[in-house]
Amino acid sequence: MPVITEIADLKRLYKRRVPKMFYDYAETGSWTEQTFRDNTNDFQEIRLRQRIAVDMANRSTATEMVGQEVAMPLALAPVGLTGMQNADGEIKAARAAEKFGVPFCLSTMSICSIEDVAAHTSKPFWFQVYTLKDDDFMRRLMDRAHAANCSAIVITVDLQVLGQRHKDLKNGLSAPPKLTPASIANMMTKVPWGLEMLQTKRRFFGNIVGHAQGVSDPSSLSSWTAEAFDPSLNWERIKELMDMWGGKVILKGIMEVDDAVKAAELGADAIIVSNHGGRQLDGALSSIRALEPIVKAVGDKTEVWMDSGIRTGQDVLKAVALGAKGTMSGRAWLYGLGAMGEQGVTKALEVIHRELDLSMAFCGRRNIKDVDRDILLVPKGFSGEWG
Ligand code: FNR
Repeated sequence: MPVITEIADLKRLYKRRVPKMFYDYAETGSWTEQTFRDNTNDFQEIRLRQRIAVDMANRSTATEMVGQEVAMPLALAPVGLTGMQNADGEIKAARAAEKFGVPFCLSTMSICSIEDVAAHTSKPFWFQVYTLKDDDFMRRLMDRAHAANCSAIVITVDLQVLGQRHKDLKNGLSAPPKLTPASIANMMTKVPWGLEMLQTKRRFFGNIVGHAQGVSDPSSLSSWTAEAFDPSLNWERIKELMDMWGGKVILKGIMEVDDAVKAAELGADAIIVSNHGGRQLDGALSSIRALEPIVKAVGDKTEVWMDSGIRTGQDVLKAVALGAKGTMSGRAWLYGLGAMGEQGVTKALEVIHRELDLSMAFCGRRNIKDVDRDILLVPKGFSGEWG
């Protein structure tokens, strides 16, 4: 077993273990991938200020996200098709998150269903919903999430239309995958992955097949996904969905102050400054640059979180110092899952936590709740001076 000290180690193992089409699905952004690259690179622009001779015993990274106690301000972001990266992947990731004490958010487009995940975990998880046209299906999804004791829903508001990812189109990515000779040849080299996939019955979109109208079997799925998303989404509909749920709501995919103000007015319990990991609007600002003006505008009215680009504990620290009350990470835990299953997700969380804890100490803070902008050196114009 190789020694794993950083997320990049897990990514290397993941690449080796998982078929190319699923690796490509995760490790890509839309169009030129500029925003995908900026998300990680822009964190590097910010520097940390080292302090000395401050008592660093008894540190704590524990805090709350929408009132829920968390071991560190990081939740597992919703990731579609997780169960194709590693058999029963959503269940494994949810279990790792639960043991670590951070929230897990299940995607609508997961392989394991809401009920599957609930049956294999003991604490409430969050459920992510897309804004779909089919009202009936939305209601049933939310009823199922209530029945599964989900403690919050995350409404993803940045997917009225779908960003284009060249690699996915070329690879025939879908669930089940459209198999080409090249993808079959590649899958045959991924023996441990394949053996595990053969042993599970969970290989299709578990929340959809048998639940959405007209999707009784996997072959009817692709036409459903092409039609399902609601391009006419507006704020009234978002409010309707929030009321439909009636509990805690987190709105994910907000990049502009005006939209954040509107979301706060509607009563969102938290908003996530997110460009969907660079998978939707290529050319959008990185989330870490978009964060601070939004915190300034609505940080006293709702919790502002961020995601997109987090690969280290230092990234989490920088986001918190810029005012984020929480963060989410998608790929970092997915690499761990693809590399080593549940153990790999735990490893990813341990790596990030250790980096966060030690960096916080170097910066002279003992408690994550005391982290503020004073620990940072931020380039002038980092979040502004764009026309
Ligand atoms: C996603 N993301 C996503 N978001 C969502 O709301 N529903 C979903 O089903 C998915 N699916 C999905 C699949 C894959 C492979 C990735 C990488 C991402 C976006 C995700 O929740 C999160 O916003 C980003 O992953 C954050 O960026 P990082 O942490 O991956 O850089």
